[in-house]
Amino acid sequence: MTFSRIAGTGGYLPERVMTNEEFESLVETSDEWIRERTGIKRRHVAAEDETTSDMALAAARRAIDAAGVTTSDVDLIVLATTTPDKVFPSSACLVQRQLDIHDCPAFDVHAACSGFIYALDIADRFIRTGGAACALVIGAETYSRIIDWNDRGTCVLFGDGAGAIVLQASDEPGIYSAHSHADGQFAELLHVPQGISTGYDVVRAEAAFIQMKGNEVFRKAVGTLGAIARETIAGNGIEKKDINWLVPHQANLRIIKAAAKKLELPMERVVVTVDEHANTSSASIPLALDVAVRDGRIKRGELLLFEAFGAGFTWGSALVRY
Ligand code: COA
Repeated sequence: MTFSRIAGTGGYLPERVMTNEEFESLVETSDEWIRERTGIKRRHVAAEDETTSDMALAAARRAIDAAGVTTSDVDLIVLATTTPDKVFPSSACLVQRQLDIHDCPAFDVHAACSGFIYALDIADRFIRTGGAACALVIGAETYSRIIDWNDRGTCVLFGDGAGAIVLQASDEPGIYSAHSHADGQFAELLHVPQGISTGYDVVRAEAAFIQMKGNEVFRKAVGTLGAIARETIAGNGIEKKDINWLVPHQANLRIIKAAAKKLELPMERVVVTVDEHANTSSASIPLALDVAVRDGRIKRGELLLFEAFGAGFTWGSALVRY
């Protein structure tokens, strides 16, 4: 039987760091409020000419190096993003071109903050069914382009960045299970109203930016993440105490703490990057994973739980032997 396993990780953050204090001159807010309500201290913001595929490429190269493979080994590229460079082609194709890889499937996955879980789920299925043997799975976002810098309820929450893994065929798991879910009835609680088929409208400029009912999203996220963790644990016949590390989507420290509490995991066993990166949407899990692998916290053989929740609503999880 074929499984998939994470062979290497990579991350990329733009050079420019934006502190909470910088928002004090933009909107009525304070460093204290942002830290207390979200856990965020700073975030990285892409340069004007820096795109999602640029960041994805940098993270992908680092993951390829860490995995000890070459670009010629890569036979699938799945890139999770809601902020692609262009309407088409996909950002995955742009990364493929820069890596000088030809003819393997390359496509984007659009599932907002759950995008990386969806991409991992898809790549794992490709590998388990023999459709690929060495996949690049990337999450990359440039949310600074869809932020309303006048809306204090959202502008302080997001950051830019990219994370990537190389997922390889293996005789041993690897990915024990991945779970992807959605319920579109909540679409308007967290959305960017403007799109392609609804037409661009310069008069409704705010429709091009993130709109969110923050506290409703918060409540739904906490409940749903508890349920998905229970589903993953029960589905694999393990117990909460078997999990070595929770690597959650990084939206808000209070959401992460609530998830850890439900899992009875001390915060020392939770990878937290929301303080330094803010919410980088589909990049947040692979970025957090890369940070904790590179600083030596996550070691080979340990059991990891990934979990995410985002616009759609979408949500998902994965149980992974690193
Ligand atoms: N600075 C200061 N005050 C702010 C603020 C800011 N940046 N943003 C909102 N406020 C104010 C609100 O206007 C409100 O004021 P009011 O009581 O006078 O109307 C007050 O703070 C409370 O707002 P509320 O939205 O209830 O706060 P909250 O405790 O729910 O925190 C969020 C707001 C956005 C941090 C929180 O709801 C959240 O994290 N939600 C989920 C976000 C998320 O996960 N999104 C992505 C999913 S992947």
